[in-house]
Amino acid sequence: MNSQIQSIYKTRKVTGKSGVEITLHSEIDPDEGAFIHRIISQDANISKTLEVGCAYGLSSLHICDALSSRSNPQHIIVDPFQYSKWDGVGIRNLEEAGIDFFRLIEKNQSLLCPSCLAWVRGRLI
Ligand SMILES: C[S@@+](CC[C@H](N)C(=O)[O-])C[C@H]1O[C@@H](n2cnc3c(N)ncnc32)[C@H](O)[C@@H]1O
Repeated sequence: MNSQIQSIYKTRKVTGKSGVEITLHSEIDPDEGAFIHRIISQDANISKTLEVGCAYGLSSLHICDALSSRSNPQHIIVDPFQYSKWDGVGIRNLEEAGIDFFRLIEKNQSLLCPSCLAWVRGRLI
């Protein structure tokens, strides 16, 4: 687990695009994050990932941390509420981590996922 993720779990404070500090909730716990990190790290073929639901970005941070050593990594996040409900915290955290290989799609996953999956299958894997 990198120092940024450790710090968020320790302080349980995050800040959104508005600059307002928020107490962390709804996130995956450190063991779940480590599990996801391990799945990606142990399979050298994984360089593209698709996530539904970013919230404050904890799962995204774990995923992107594991992907960051890969050649041409890509992480796609589907979340229509990242700015309206979560104040852009997840995106802010990814940007602060220096992650430049993610893309946020602000759509409902039930509408988007069939085309996302087709794209992942057809073009990325
Ligand atoms: C429990 S939170 C995710 C927590 C996050 N994975 C983490 O570990 O920090 C659920 C997320 O799903 C998103 N969400 C809810 N309905 C959705 C939908 N129809 N399509 C995509 N995302 C949705 C919410 O905006 C929220 O970000």
